[in-house]
Amino acid sequence: MTEAAFTPRVFSGIQPSGNLHLGNYLGALKRFAEAQNQGVQTLYCMVDLHAITVWQEPADLRHATRELAAGFIASGLDPARSILFNQSQVAEHTQLAWVFNCVARMGWMQRMTQFKDKAGKNAQNASLGLFAYPALMAADILAYHATHVPVGEDQKQHLELTRDIAIKFNNDFGVDFFPITEPVIEGAATRVMSLRDGAKKMSKSDPSDMSRINLTDDADAIAKKIRKAKTDPEPLPSEAKGLEERPEARNLVNIYAALADKSVDQVMAEAGGKPFSEFKPMLADLAVDKIAPISTEMSRLMQDVTEIDRILANGADRARAIAAPILRQTYDIMGMVGPREL
Ligand code: TYM
Repeated sequence: MTEAAFTPRVFSGIQPSGNLHLGNYLGALKRFAEAQNQGVQTLYCMVDLHAITVWQEPADLRHATRELAAGFIASGLDPARSILFNQSQVAEHTQLAWVFNCVARMGWMQRMTQFKDKAGKNAQNASLGLFAYPALMAADILAYHATHVPVGEDQKQHLELTRDIAIKFNNDFGVDFFPITEPVIEGAATRVMSLRDGAKKMSKSDPSDMSRINLTDDADAIAKKIRKAKTDPEPLPSEAKGLEERPEARNLVNIYAALADKSVDQVMAEAGGKPFSEFKPMLADLAVDKIAPISTEMSRLMQDVTEIDRILANGADRARAIAAPILRQTYDIMGMVGPREL
């Protein structure tokens, strides 16, 4: 199958489970806006059905979904140009996910490192939904015949599984129906690390709030977290190669590069040889400059949740208009009797 047969279409999703952070911004949101601005069709989803694979307090989930929508818009996504919606409003996601539950193999799911990490030692007690999570993710993407999916590094394995599901479906039914989606994992910050430990990913679930910069942090909090970020005692090296064995220094340089839209080599040309007492204030200024306006805009948008809900309902209608015929054709290929638009 040639991928050229499919119109380029970008899809990605983020879980509304609170604490949207700098890793989500640099690894995902900022790049979502870049894709939108390249003029290709873009769909971005608040994946509330993925969030409930672990317990969510209903009031918190409702708040987090709206806050995530505000974060999308404040990061440069325009509801007129991108389709912004929450997953549970478009039933086709779960309908196609069931089909993919029947395509994917137990062994494939058992290999998912994210499941192993999240389920921990007590896998018998994890929800069935947590195990099936990647099949729903494949459905999110393939319900739109999306060709490109911008994500951070940690989603790579899930996207490989999405490709495997598409390939198996196409083979099983002898069709070229689902595209073999390309993961788009690009830029200096596809894996932003914790500010407290360069070996750990920046994450919403880290108990230490000092480990991450939240998109809701104000200028003072952002500057303080960077000032206190863990580093080593050496000044920055003069070349990127010198960062290899220095995870904390490398992380701060990567963050700087991604925020400034520069390459790591350009940052090294500017800041190589500087001690952290000079580099950290440079980074803090840049981060405040880029992140604080997002936080201010999110608070402003959150004052009108009716408007946010309206944007999500409108996005869901537009999303459904694409996904419904694709689901109907999927059912038809599989031999389900019913009305269809062929
Ligand atoms: P989630 O909600 O955990 O994260 C959302 C996005 O942020 C990226 N990200 C990071 N990037 C760089 N450094 C980090 N420290 C960091 N932490 C998170 C993630 O890679 C992701 O791009 N399963 C997905 C949500 C999802 C999805 C989809 C994504 C559901 N359906 C379909 C793409 C397409 C997840 O849990 O992301």
